[in-house]
Amino acid sequence: MVKKAVIPAAGLGTRFLPATKAMPKEMMPVVDTPAIQYVVQEAVDSGIDDVLIVSGKGKRAIEDHFDRNPELENHLESREEEDAREAMRRIADLAAIHYIRQKEQNGLGDAIRHARRHVGAEPFAVLLGDTIVDSAIPATQQLIDAYEQYRQPVIAIEEVPREKVHRYGIVGVKPLGGRAYQITDLVEKPSADEAPSNFAVAGRYVLTPDVFACIDRTEPGKNNEIQITDALRLLLKNQPMVAVKFEGRRYDIGNKLDYLKTIVEFALKRKEFAEPFIKFLAETVERNSGSKK
Ligand code: G1P
Repeated sequence: MVKKAVIPAAGLGTRFLPATKAMPKEMMPVVDTPAIQYVVQEAVDSGIDDVLIVSGKGKRAIEDHFDRNPELENHLESREEEDAREAMRRIADLAAIHYIRQKEQNGLGDAIRHARRHVGAEPFAVLLGDTIVDSAIPATQQLIDAYEQYRQPVIAIEEVPREKVHRYGIVGVKPLGGRAYQITDLVEKPSADEAPSNFAVAGRYVLTPDVFACIDRTEPGKNNEIQITDALRLLLKNQPMVAVKFEGRRYDIGNKLDYLKTIVEFALKRKEFAEPFIKFLAETVERNSGSKK
């Protein structure tokens, strides 16, 4: 049973400056909800009730967001906005959320290593805080199902165009049937020539505690940081691993263009905005394409 999740959220968000100078990138709103709330909700919807957020300097807003805010609740109550008050309370009750701070920016592998004591001897899910997945079955649930079937660490993958492989961890794979693959290799941010495939690591993992010893043995890699992909490559020498081409759509809120696309898509999913917003988009496209002629 996978009952614990780790959400690394310590990164500086340099791809999103100046917005992230004083605000965690994980708190960037997608319409009206911070990205990390979607991520915690995905974990909860996958049967997880214990979440460890690896935070760092300047990330206090995340803790405040998942805490009670009695002043705000009283205010909403006095204005008889019961639904809003309930919604605020529910955020604080989503799961048992714990925090640990990564004191130095030593990379994703190092951030995940901070979860060692918290997860103990259990398998655990890892959800990157700047990726949202929209799917009928939560992406983490899909990985947990594969873990239950294969009893091996599981990594979510998605196909990306060859010209984008340098942005991701890339896996080499052999088909196992259905959406599952046996992993044969892992490389962090390879060039198009070095990439073993165009299957990218998609920001969701189910890992087992034996990964921690591998992180300890991992030298700094890309960007001079301890990369989880490199640690998993070490683990692969002794432990088979599965990749799952998950069903659903991944939204990266860690860079500006993808963030803009995410907001548009999520706004269009909302009943109250869909119609006026699509009208606005159509008019905007029309106006802008007209001006370029
Ligand atoms: C991280 C991982 C990479 C993965 C990516 C998914 O990279 O290191 O393997 O493919 O997330 O978003 P980052 O985006 O933090 O550079």
